Amino acid sequence: MAIERTLSIIKPDAVAKNVIGEIYSRFEKAGLKIVAAKMKHLSKAEAEGFYAEHSARGFFGDLVAFMTSGPVIIQVLEGENAVATHRDLMGATDPKKAEAGTIRADFASSIDENAVHGSDSTTSAAREIAYFFSTIELAPRTR
Ligand code: PPS
Repeated sequence: MAIERTLSIIKPDAVAKNVIGEIYSRFEKAGLKIVAAKMKHLSKAEAEGFYAEHSARGFFGDLVAFMTSGPVIIQVLEGENAVATHRDLMGATDPKKAEAGTIRADFASSIDENAVHGSDSTTSAAREIAYFFSTIELAPRTR
């Protein structure tokens, strides 16, 4: 199996619910390592740039407003099939459709406020990781 990296964001609703540790614990129990992390209050320009591919969709303004409504925690997760493993842990975009026991089923209240983001492919992961982390922040650990 391939060792991959993926970008994860704990969104403002989940940070406000005080479930950062609970979500990190799920990553660790699934064998995903947190190899870089930061807390950040995104500016409008940062959120618009991150979600640029969705700029023509009707919900774009709401998505940007939500993502800038409070701090987020952004991390790079590493592990076997990290992209798919992380997407499985997150559950479906709409929490009403998310499988029981997934992060969105447990912590998200609606499709607009759905607790977490995860890259949907290794290509997106590479772009999204580079959007938030510099080369030096991603340097391999020495131990
Ligand atoms: S996915 O999983 O990326 O395929 O989901 P998609 O439906 O393409 O949605 C892209 C991102 O937009 C968010 N989204 C919404 N935000 C606000 N309102 C509505 N109605 C809505 N529908 C989708 C969705 O959570 C995705 O954000 P991320 O951060 O990628 O999860």
